[in-house]
Amino acid sequence: MKIFVAGATGAIGRQLVPRLIAGGHRVVGMTRSESKQAALWEMGAEPVVADALDPVQVAQVVASAQPDVMIHELTSIGGLNPRHFDRDFAATNRLRTEGTDHLLSAGRAVGVKRFVAQSYAGWPQGRTGPAVKSEEEPLDPAQPREMRESWEAIRHLEAAVTGADWTEGVVLRYGGLYGPGTSMAPGGEQIEMVRRRRIPVVGNGAGVWSFIHVADAAEATVAAVQRGQRGIYNVVDDEPAPVAEWLPRLAAAIGAPKPYRVPRWLGRLAAGEAGVVMMTEIRGASNAKAKRELGWEPGHPSWRQGFAQ
Ligand SMILES: NC(=O)c1ccc[n+]([C@@H]2O[C@H](COP(=O)([O-])OP(=O)(O)OC[C@H]3O[C@@H](n4cnc5c(N)ncnc54)[C@H](OP(=O)(O)O)[C@@H]3O)[C@@H](O)[C@H]2O)c1
Repeated sequence: MKIFVAGATGAIGRQLVPRLIAGGHRVVGMTRSESKQAALWEMGAEPVVADALDPVQVAQVVASAQPDVMIHELTSIGGLNPRHFDRDFAATNRLRTEGTDHLLSAGRAVGVKRFVAQSYAGWPQGRTGPAVKSEEEPLDPAQPREMRESWEAIRHLEAAVTGADWTEGVVLRYGGLYGPGTSMAPGGEQIEMVRRRRIPVVGNGAGVWSFIHVADAAEATVAAVQRGQRGIYNVVDDEPAPVAEWLPRLAAAIGAPKPYRVPRWLGRLAAGEAGVVMMTEIRGASNAKAKRELGWEPGHPSWRQGFAQ
């Protein structure tokens, strides 16, 4: 198949493009930068230059590519400070709203058979109900003030993609990404914060997180391109875990000192309501549907081994 990848140069894109090509597909990779075209050629993809926020440019590159399938892996995460969550995600939120709409309408014009898009497994699904959630659990609008725009952008993306009745609209809710090219890699922002003891366990640390190695996220995406049906799939590892468990393990794995423990009120002062919620209340995600329907298994079944690599 001919596959158009928006976000081909990103952390997921760099893992995904070579796997699609190894699977016998032709890949057209989109970037904003003339200078990143060479890296796309090297991966075996045909580069196209366009800004995802410009509908005319997007329509032109998609029309000239005439793809069978489109993949949307666009993000632009500015930082990871929960006090300013929506500010740090402002550019990503535009990519998830306007960017999604532009890609969908360009895809519709050429009749793409499948449209696969990146979403997130974790805080958007809320903080009530089971500790580990399936895709059936609805997105929860009751979010801290600092996260509402980001939640709305996720909601928009999921509704637009699964609601596109002219194509097979597939949403992949990736867990917290770690591994090469992510902020959870040696030298990455989150790892350095853990090393400097800047991320404490807040309160009881009962917030449950689901993680996924970036290579496993790419493998699941290849499976979704081949077998995904309209709807949502959680792409997470086998072991959702509370912060009180994974954060000290992560610190030990990278040779950092044990994280501090701080009471909820102090956590709220430092990290705001969003920080407290993510540390104490959010829920994890189950990968049963992706395993069953995509025939996918994570090569890194647990962050326990993955973090230690
Ligand atoms: N689930 C998760 O936990 C999750 C999800 C996503 C990201 N992250 C983390 O956040 C870190 C920061 O990543 P990032 O958000 O900067 O993503 P990234 O992995 O660097 O990729 C961003 C991709 O989006 C493209 N892009 C962004 N804005 C665009 C625009 N206006 N038009 C066209 N293409 C555009 C970029 O292309 P060009 O730059 O080539 O134009 C690039 O291919 C990652 O390393 C990862 O650790 C985590």
